[in-house]
Amino acid sequence: MSLQRVLVVDDDPAIRRMLVSRLQRQNIPTVGIATMQQTLEELRREPADLLIVDLQLPDGNGLEVLQAVKQLGISVDVIMMTGFGTIETAIEAMKLGASNYLLKPFSLGQFELAINAVIEQRNLRDENRTLKERLAEENNSTPLLYCSSEMERVMGLVKRVAATDATVLIQGESGTGKELISRAIHENSARADKPYIKLNCAAVPDNLLESEFFGHERGAFTGATSRREGRFEQANGGTLLLDEISEIPPNLQSKLLRVLQEQEFERVGGNRTLRVDVRIVAATNRDLLQSVEKGEFRQDLYFRLNVVPIKIPSLRERKGEVEYLVREFLRYFAQKHGKPTPRISPFAMEQLTSYNWPGNVRELRNYTERALILWEGIKDLEATDFSLTPSAVDAGLFPDMNREFPTIEQVEKRLITLALEKTGGQRTEAARLLGINVRTLRNKLHEYEGGELPLKQKEEIREEGGEEDQASKNALSFLLPK
Ligand SMILES: Nc1ncnc2c1ncn2[C@@H]1O[C@H](COP(=O)(O)OP(=O)(O)OP(=O)(O)O)[C@@H](O)[C@H]1O
Ligand SMILES: [Mg+2]
Repeated sequence: MSLQRVLVVDDDPAIRRMLVSRLQRQNIPTVGIATMQQTLEELRREPADLLIVDLQLPDGNGLEVLQAVKQLGISVDVIMMTGFGTIETAIEAMKLGASNYLLKPFSLGQFELAINAVIEQRNLRDENRTLKERLAEENNSTPLLYCSSEMERVMGLVKRVAATDATVLIQGESGTGKELISRAIHENSARADKPYIKLNCAAVPDNLLESEFFGHERGAFTGATSRREGRFEQANGGTLLLDEISEIPPNLQSKLLRVLQEQEFERVGGNRTLRVDVRIVAATNRDLLQSVEKGEFRQDLYFRLNVVPIKIPSLRERKGEVEYLVREFLRYFAQKHGKPTPRISPFAMEQLTSYNWPGNVRELRNYTERALILWEGIKDLEATDFSLTPSAVDAGLFPDMNREFPTIEQVEKRLITLALEKTGGQRTEAARLLGINVRTLRNKLHEYEGGELPLKQKEEIREEGGEEDQASKNALSFLLPK
C-alpha cells in the first residue's frame, strides 16, 4: 500500500517546500505545515498516514506533537527530524512511538530510505492484520444453515453451478450470506483444494485496486519496493471472490472485462502478459442492473459476470427460517461459550419472527450471540434479552421506514390494530395494552372509521358482553396491513 496523506511540519519554508514537492512528485498527497497548532488542527480535520515533523517548532517541539497525537488517540506514523544531532532526543522520540528519525542535514536519498522504511512497516502491519482477520473469521465461522424452500432452491443452484467453471453473480442484501454461498460454490467444486481468494473491492482505495487485482512490478509506483502478486495470480487454479463488485471504478471495469474474456493481464508497471485459470464469483448488495441503467457499471461487464445469477432472498422473505436459525445459533454459541442451551419464551420467539431483520442473518446471529453471552443461565430467554432496540421494533412495524417515514396517525392506527389483533378484538383489553382508557380507544376508532359505520349501539352491548362480533371486525379491517 502506498501513502494516502502525509503532513510535513517544519517552520523552515525551504525545507518544507522541498520535501513536500519531493513527495508530491511521487504522487503522494502531501501538505506542508509550519506550526504544532496547525498540525494538530489538520490531523483533527482529516487523518494522515505519516507525519514528518521537525523537532524544533515555533510553538512547541516535535516530542510535544507526538504526545498530543497520542493523547488524541490518532494513529499515524511519525518521522522525527532533528537538527541538533543529539541522538538522545531521537531516541526519546522513538520511545514515544516515532517510526524513524532523520538527522539534519540529510540527503534526499536518506529521506527516501526513511519513507520507504515506513511504507514497508505499514505493509507488514497490514498483512499481519489481514492474517489475524482471516484467523478470527475462521474461528468464528458457523456452517451454512437453512431450512426454507427458498434457500433450498439457492443451494440446488449452488451445487449445479459448482460442477462448472461458470462465472457467478451473487446478489442479496447485506448479511444474507453471500460470502458463505460463494465459499460453498468453491468447496463443492473441483477446485476445492486450490486457493479460495477474496477481494473486497470497496475496501481498497481506487488508485490501489489495480495493483490489488493484478499485482505490480518492483518500482511501479512509490512504495512498490518489491514485486507483488495480485489476487488473480494468487487465485490461479482456484476461485476468486470479487466482493462489492459494484464499487470498482470505470477504468478498472474495462480491465476486468479483458481478464474475464481472455484470462490474461499484466502486472502494474510490467509488460509481460500473464495467463491464469480462475473461476470468478462476484457479489454485491446493490442492484447491479440499476447501476448499469444509471451508467455507473459497464453493461458488457455485467453480462460477463451475470452468467449464472444467484439471488439470495432477504430474511424477511423467508421468515419461516427465523425460529430455526435462532435455535441453531443459540446452540452453537452455547457450546462456544461453554453454557447450556437456553430455552426461549414463545412470546420472544414471536417477536423475533415478526421483526423485519434489516441486517438479515448477520443481525440475527449477532442478537443471539449477545443474548447468550448476557444470559444468566436460569430463566427462559425473553424478548428483552434480545434487546431488539426500540428503533428496531419500530422498523418491524414499519419495514419501509427508511424510505417513507410514517406519520403519527399511521403509527397510532398500526398500534391500535396490533393491540386489537393481539386481544382478539377485545377493546377493553386492547385499551389496557395501549395504556389508554376504553373511551379514548373507541373515539379513535370512530375517528378513523370516519363515522361511516353506525357501531355505537352494538359497541355498548359488546363492552358489556366482552365480545366482538364479526361485523365490527370487518369494520376494522381497513386498519390491518395490506
Ligand atoms: N444461512 C446462513 N447460515 C449461517 N450463517 C449465516 C447464514 N447467512 C449469513 N450467515 C452469517 O451472517 C454473517 C454475514 O454473512 P455474509 O458475510 O456471508 O453476508 P454478506 O451477504 O456477504 O453481507 P455483506 O453484503 O454485508 O457483505 C456471517 O457471520 C455469516 O456466517
Ligand atoms: Mg459480504
